[in-house]
Amino acid sequence: MTEQHVRPQVAVLDTGGQYCHLIARRIREQGVYAEVASADTPVDKLAGLKGVVISGGPASVYEAGSPTVDPNLFSAGVPALGICYGMHLMAHLGGGAVRRGDRGEFGLALLDIDEPGPLFAGLEPRQQIWMSHRDAVEAVPPGFHAMAHTDTCAVAAMGDPARRLYGLQFHPEVVHTRRGAQILSNFLFEVCRCSRDWNPARQIPTIEDAIRRSVGDRGVLFFLSGGIDSAVAYTLCIRALGPDRVHGVYVDTGLMREGETEFVSTLFSSLAAGSFDVEHAAEEFLTALAGVRDPERKRNIIGEKFVEVQERILERGHYLDGHWILGQGTIYPDTIESGGTAHADLIKTHHNRVAGIQRLIEANRIVEPLTSFYKDEVRELGRTLGLPETLLERHPFPGPALAIRCLCVDAAEPVQPAEDGWVLPVRSVGVQGDSRSYRPVLALERVPTPEEDLHDLATRLINRTANINRVVAVVRCRAPLSELRTCPSDLSAERLERLRRADAVVRKLAHDSGFDRSIWQFPVVLIPVGAAGRPDSIVLRPVDSVDGMTANSVLMPRPLLDAMAGAILDIDGIAGVFYDLTHKPPATIEWE
Ligand code: XMP
Repeated sequence: MTEQHVRPQVAVLDTGGQYCHLIARRIREQGVYAEVASADTPVDKLAGLKGVVISGGPASVYEAGSPTVDPNLFSAGVPALGICYGMHLMAHLGGGAVRRGDRGEFGLALLDIDEPGPLFAGLEPRQQIWMSHRDAVEAVPPGFHAMAHTDTCAVAAMGDPARRLYGLQFHPEVVHTRRGAQILSNFLFEVCRCSRDWNPARQIPTIEDAIRRSVGDRGVLFFLSGGIDSAVAYTLCIRALGPDRVHGVYVDTGLMREGETEFVSTLFSSLAAGSFDVEHAAEEFLTALAGVRDPERKRNIIGEKFVEVQERILERGHYLDGHWILGQGTIYPDTIESGGTAHADLIKTHHNRVAGIQRLIEANRIVEPLTSFYKDEVRELGRTLGLPETLLERHPFPGPALAIRCLCVDAAEPVQPAEDGWVLPVRSVGVQGDSRSYRPVLALERVPTPEEDLHDLATRLINRTANINRVVAVVRCRAPLSELRTCPSDLSAERLERLRRADAVVRKLAHDSGFDRSIWQFPVVLIPVGAAGRPDSIVLRPVDSVDGMTANSVLMPRPLLDAMAGAILDIDGIAGVFYDLTHKPPATIEWE
């Protein structure tokens, strides 16, 4: 690990919500260094901080075993802001009352500020906010008074200015709370008297010193993915240690997007002046995946192959002999147990299974220069280091690559009529609550207009139509939907190439139109549904998200959608182009 030297001014206590990292990021965006800490951190460990934020979370304060904070926190003289569940804790522990409401409040709401105080300074009396709660504060604790309300929530904000304690029922950290940034800024600078101490780009010399200290006179090996994090970590190590002591390996699995291996080779060769290799393993991967159709089996085989290839590289390059350590691009959210990224677990198991790498980690032979940073901050570091925008603006891309976007089925089956469209006989993965579903897809005959609420429509249809977890709309198809059918299909080189071409078309048009900058990720999926000698179709899945845990389907401008569909239908073997309307949940981002 690489330690940093900035001391946090603010701790965000994590009560298990998905928003704790978002809160810390928003605070850092104001130039104040914040870290996430577990909710039950004893108050003496928080002494010296300028302020504490208690995050929202899914639990109810009156349930046994729900997360709690050190009750002495509220008499320690440290200013505190409780958000949602954090506010409930403040009320509950301070002698107020929290009750489950009859109806929850989810989504946009209007806040009426009754008493501005320092927290709402500079805000109009009526504000658009974003709510997500069922419990609410019924009685404020002694010392507090209510500061704002909504139509359905009598205590939407409360405060005890003397102790500098504040609670908000709504979420200032999400963009839908229009003046959320101002409220956080008021808390940081008016209430806590924080100073601006955080600018990630200015940390570069400190990071480089830390790398030199932890690496000593050894070398650093990176397995590069083509993603931003490993590229920035690798570049920092080269700057700190010189190119001769840093080596990067990129494994070409044959499952990558068009031009990826060339892009990565050009990029890293120019950065590293020769200390970079590509391991060509496409044939091995494709042979191992031949005939495999089950999505989980595909993932396992790819994981196992990766392990084999990495072990081989470690042995062959004598990286285990004590002179080398492993470099990784692990970023801050990946280091925190709860509230981590959607795929932190996967990445962990994946690495754990490489015995050689596990040995390096156990022997503390690992350097991770980015463990204090969020993704946007890593991007800023990369920009300051002079890495190209083509790398920095890349969307996240899954490790198993196109393999999870190329669906395979065993049987030839026709589509089935349903009340609202046609059920396609391919199954995709979804999430409902904590469990995964694996169900067929409903296809509509037309794309909704911007006036129609996509989320509503897809959710309504999924609730109404038994046994589906995803809704798509046909954009263009060479045959009527009623004539479509699946045909038995594998992860063949031919189908991967078909997907690769469609993905390249979409990437180019999304980039040239600037649409890709307005979304988080744009998977392009090949499904074995076709007609008339064209066995496959393509699904477009542009989504907006903060961290991949939840995501919204994004409506594309119609001309762009038509341009994409036209170009994709020119690809051999493609019968139709569909548009995925489903949010996550109930669907996932990837189809698998
Ligand atoms: P889902 O499909 O679960 O995806 O909604 C959430 C996010 O995780 C990405 N993803 C992965 N990333 N290795 C990764 O590095 C993986 O195995 C993996 N699987 C899914 C997905 O692209 C989305 O951003």
